[in-house]
Amino acid sequence: MAIRTSSGYVPELALVADRPAEPAEPIVGHIMLSVSQLVTDLSSRVSILILSPLGVLPANQGRGIGVALTHAALAIADARPEPLVIVQGHPDYYPRFGFVRGRTIGVLPPENLGPIDKAWMVRRRPDASGELRGRVVYPQYFLDLDD
Ligand SMILES: CC(C)(COP(=O)(O)OP(=O)(O)OC[C@H]1O[C@@H](n2cnc3c(N)ncnc32)[C@H](O)[C@@H]1OP(=O)(O)O)[C@@H](O)C(=O)NCCC(=O)NCCS
Repeated sequence: MAIRTSSGYVPELALVADRPAEPAEPIVGHIMLSVSQLVTDLSSRVSILILSPLGVLPANQGRGIGVALTHAALAIADARPEPLVIVQGHPDYYPRFGFVRGRTIGVLPPENLGPIDKAWMVRRRPDASGELRGRVVYPQYFLDLDD
């Protein structure tokens, strides 16, 4: 298995896990980060990253591919300027990467998302300020999926 850059909206933020030795079905997993915005308590806007989607083909799950993709994506995120990565996902899966429940650090989900708590998680870049608080706004291309 190898991890390489895939094409996507922001190419360097979309990764696939592939098996070059198996050309019939080389790609077994995918992860993508997108740029979005946090509206801070002072009403300024800060660019952040959203982790979505992450998926591994069912026959290949449980072999460390999801964890490897997530570590690779977060390593790229840590080298970028955005101070936060947010995810709406399995509460038992993401804490191993440093994600914590968003409400506990004052990073709230978009208002139109409805009630969400345990699944709303945030990871600060290791060198980012702990003071950043506010509400996330999803990018328009996420909201367009509701039409
Ligand atoms: C979640 C998913 C990406 C994990 O990928 P994977 O390659 O199977 O995971 P890995 O083999 O790298 O890691 C296995 C670990 O993840 C945990 N895990 C897998 N699926 C999980 C889930 N749904 N909830 C919580 N933990 C999960 C396993 O318990 C295991 O934990 P352990 O190392 O403590 O034993 C994969 O199961 C998947 O594609 N699921 C369907 C799509 C999905 O749910 N995507 C995530 C949306 S937030």
